[in-house]
Amino acid sequence: MTVNEFQNAIRQGIPDVLPEVKPFDKNINHAPKRKDILSVTEKKLALKNALRYFPQKHHKILAKEFLEELNNYGRIYMYRFRPDYKIFARNINEYPYKSKQAAAIMLMISNNLDSIVAQHPHELITYGGNGAVFQNWAQYLLTMQYLSEMTVQQTLVLYSGHPLGLFPSYKEAPRVVITNGMVVPNYSGKDHYEKFNALGVSQYGQMTAGSFMYIGPQGIVHGTTITLLNAGRIISKNNEDLAGKLFVSSGLGGMSGAQPKAAVIAGAIGVIAEVNPKAIATRKLQGWVDEVFSDLNLLIERIIKAKLNKEHVSIAYHGNIVDLWEKLAEKNIKVEIGSDQTSLHNPFAGGYYPAGLSFDESNKMMANEPEIFKEKVYESLRRQVTAINALTSKGMYFFDYGNAFLLEASRAKANILRTDGSFIYPSYVQDIMGPICFDYGFGPFRWVCTSSKSEDLDYTDALAVSVLEKLSKDSPSEIKLQMQDNIKWIKEAKKNKLVVGSQARILYANAEGRIEIAKAFNKAVKEGKISEPIVLGRDHHDVSGTDSPYRETSNIYDGSQFTADMAIQNVIGDSFRGATWVSIHNGGGVGWGEVINGGFGMVIDGSNEADIRIQRMLFWDVNNGITRRSWARNNGAIFSIKRAMEKEPGLKVTLPNIADDNLINSLF
Ligand SMILES: NC(=O)c1ccc[n+]([C@@H]2O[C@H](COP(=O)([O-])OP(=O)(O)OC[C@H]3O[C@@H](n4cnc5c(N)ncnc54)[C@H](O)[C@@H]3O)[C@@H](O)[C@H]2O)c1
Repeated sequence: MTVNEFQNAIRQGIPDVLPEVKPFDKNINHAPKRKDILSVTEKKLALKNALRYFPQKHHKILAKEFLEELNNYGRIYMYRFRPDYKIFARNINEYPYKSKQAAAIMLMISNNLDSIVAQHPHELITYGGNGAVFQNWAQYLLTMQYLSEMTVQQTLVLYSGHPLGLFPSYKEAPRVVITNGMVVPNYSGKDHYEKFNALGVSQYGQMTAGSFMYIGPQGIVHGTTITLLNAGRIISKNNEDLAGKLFVSSGLGGMSGAQPKAAVIAGAIGVIAEVNPKAIATRKLQGWVDEVFSDLNLLIERIIKAKLNKEHVSIAYHGNIVDLWEKLAEKNIKVEIGSDQTSLHNPFAGGYYPAGLSFDESNKMMANEPEIFKEKVYESLRRQVTAINALTSKGMYFFDYGNAFLLEASRAKANILRTDGSFIYPSYVQDIMGPICFDYGFGPFRWVCTSSKSEDLDYTDALAVSVLEKLSKDSPSEIKLQMQDNIKWIKEAKKNKLVVGSQARILYANAEGRIEIAKAFNKAVKEGKISEPIVLGRDHHDVSGTDSPYRETSNIYDGSQFTADMAIQNVIGDSFRGATWVSIHNGGGVGWGEVINGGFGMVIDGSNEADIRIQRMLFWDVNNGITRRSWARNNGAIFSIKRAMEKEPGLKVTLPNIADDNLINSLF
């Protein structure tokens, strides 16, 4: 298809003549059948809802077809309307547009739906099983059409993927405002989601799926690397690095698969157990796993050698993590850092494979004998905790990786609780991400080169290094290490070959770092050193973006971790300070009803106006969360916000007075 034909297809929106029915492509990874939750009356409503996108002349054919989709897949995806052109992040000028900002947004949408990026591209799911960009193909077609015709005097409004329309606004306003899955709080249970989604009135946007900010696996590798480097610091006695130190965990799946790659980047020896041979094969092929062992004795010999030679190496153990932990404890191997990334948020339906059963035996038992299977899972967790406890008693540092390991182990009655009912091990946000990164403003800043050229990405990498090296010279000791980690990361980013899809980069930076890097990019675009505008953004899993009491805000201890003022304020504040698009979501990472999170995208085009937007919006986007964390009495955040006030006279925040515990305790 020529560029012209592609542009015409976008401009056309929903075609007036029905396209041919598309055969179901078995080579594509499809979403599982969703729960059949609607009553007959509700199914009728779902059909009427879907038909709203099409003229009446097509209703007879489409009504029947959509009912089949609803019955077969649990949702109406409108497969017939999936476009014939290839969807991927093209050069920005290939999109038809009146506003270049809108073209950049089309590029970002396209990347989220690219079949090499998205998990279930035909169901418009980018990642996490149900992280939707749109609910159906009509919404995609209509949104792209609106974006192609919108001017800088208009704003497109998206309700959970549904394009409500273009509304008059003004040049500096966001071009798109997105809400995903927002419901009245009492209606936020899992079945509410299933029902509203099946009716076609709401969707689960995950974090970066429905906000058009996903950049492939790079994000998770960087986050895991940062976590490991900081875990290394927690255990370091004389400022030594991770050379020769052993990190043991489980899982080579979607997110967990980043562990071996991150271990090598962090300079450790990573040994990861995985029961599924397919998951091991994928990671080996990708180069994220160097070696595979299925014999535990040979593996132990290999570990001893790797420790002796201080190798940076990643090893997969094909087998059960429980067997690995028990062997390590039995052979008295020193494990410095341990964690677990089996999918224990889903323990009885394939997320956790119990020891003592083969992979196939487990798959059969969980379907045929679910009660016995549940017992096997609990028994296995008890064994796992016993072995882990033996190793932590000899000095291993163990943390929960946000996968509900501690929670499920406690339900299994494993020896994992203190007498006061709290867990004996911390979560990664409580110990690492919160106090070391988020409280100081460090979070997953990212950018995308809209030329889609790797030369532009190389140029941005070099600029980011020079900005961070300059800032690092004057950094206070509290954040020196965070700066150094990111300089190391960005210097090695190209070598690590992490780009999948759009030409994108992630980097943990604080407010100052983000602002200075963005300004350097803007200058380079202005001078023509970068050929097309840059899109700035971030993961919602950040300093200010996400209120999630057991994850992003789990190190908030003033009782406010169940409130969501921060995320809501963030997105409102970003929208009038210069974001090109903003989004706010119910659900993401830990589930519908469990989290509120928001984010932004900002197109910087080399203009002076872009410089102003960078300064205004990025400053707020980070310091909102730091101020909230400081009010919660988090020391790092108090330090950071005082420093920010010294530098920015316009900032004046309410600081907490700290009550003396002895005084409080004396009253009881
Ligand atoms: N990496 C992060 O930053 C992060 C953050 C928050 C939460 N998590 C959580 O981590 C978990 C893993 O995520 P994922 O996307 O990789 O899930 P996934 O289901 O794709 O991968 C988990 C893997 O663990 C394997 N496994 C299960 N039981 C095993 C056992 N006993 N021994 C060895 N291997 C076993 C499975 O075969 C599977 O491949 C999820 O619960 C997720 O919510 C990760």
